[in-house]
Amino acid sequence: MKKIPFFGITRMLKKQDSSIFSLLVSKIRSGVFVDGLNTLQLEEELAKSYNRNNAICVSSGTDALFLVLKSLGIDKNDEVLVPAISFIATATAITRVGAKPVFVDINPNNALMDLSDAEKKITAKTKAVMFVDLYGNLPDFEVVEDFAKSNNLFLIEDAAQAFGCERNNRKAGSMGDVSIFSFDPTKPVSAFGTGGAVITDNDDIAKFCRAARQNGKNPKTGEYDQFGINSRISESQAALLNWQLESFENTLKIRQQKAKYLIEQIKNLPLQILVIEQTNYSGNFHKLVIACDNRDDLVRYLNKNSIETHVHYRECLYQHPVLKEFASDCFNAEMLTHKLLTLPFYPELEVEDIEYIAQIIHNYFNEIHV
Ligand SMILES: Cc1ncc(COP(=O)(O)O)c(C=O)c1O
Repeated sequence: MKKIPFFGITRMLKKQDSSIFSLLVSKIRSGVFVDGLNTLQLEEELAKSYNRNNAICVSSGTDALFLVLKSLGIDKNDEVLVPAISFIATATAITRVGAKPVFVDINPNNALMDLSDAEKKITAKTKAVMFVDLYGNLPDFEVVEDFAKSNNLFLIEDAAQAFGCERNNRKAGSMGDVSIFSFDPTKPVSAFGTGGAVITDNDDIAKFCRAARQNGKNPKTGEYDQFGINSRISESQAALLNWQLESFENTLKIRQQKAKYLIEQIKNLPLQILVIEQTNYSGNFHKLVIACDNRDDLVRYLNKNSIETHVHYRECLYQHPVLKEFASDCFNAEMLTHKLLTLPFYPELEVEDIEYIAQIIHNYFNEIHV
């Protein structure tokens, strides 16, 4: 029986390990471990390709969100609108600055924040909206920007999952006041560890984050004159990310072709595909998420056939113990969390792997359970 692991890292290493190891060894031998030319190169590349004035690399997407909120002065007096479905860090960044996350329902077709529900949840304390490009799905940027502007809110784009996605000729990472990326090992461009970036046109946010990642050290005077933590990216990880960026266009094409091939084969089954090609949209297929009734049954069936799966996400953010004091009313999100299922998907999947995954899903619906 074929075995399809959920992550492609082992397969990627098998193909590329000599290039990766020689790159890492050369960076370690250079003796420069942080704040070097590799970080600078990565920041220049990110700012250029995302058409933002500033890019600041930090230790993780989680820290990027936290530092952005700090830079905007968001604190215990404030509320931040945030979707009910995302990775935990999207919301805990808000509680980490002492503010209140206000959970907003999602559009069940694409799992993105439902702005009509967001509108209803605005209060006098609302200071920002944190929009998540979940699974690499993108909103109409202008609509979200107009929403933030007309309600006088900062707009933060959590583009952790959307590196390389585009809609209407605008890239994820270009929306609102400031955006963040994650380079964790599961992402399409990934560190062998953690990494993240803040990208923004706002020079004040950039200045704050640049100093904040280095314990508040003013790069001009050398004085510690503001809030800070230690959140730099290591030079070897920055070099690894630069190396991946060289071939990213090609990686993206492979992802898109393979995702299309898989989606074609399962699209007529009684399931919903959460990541779909829309008009003027080009995705990274960071996660290939479907939704169906009897999700747990399908999970067991796939696992029994040696296909590893995950669920992103099994519960709404406010259902996690750490956030339950911020419980909210999000009907669509709660319904969707019972149906979501993430299939294994990465560029190293062979055509036969994709056909095998599709075949097993067909078997589930056709032969066994319908
Ligand atoms: C939507 C979202 N936001 C934030 C993060 C946090 O990024 P990191 O893992 O780099 O801290 C992630 C990471 O998985 C994410 O998916």
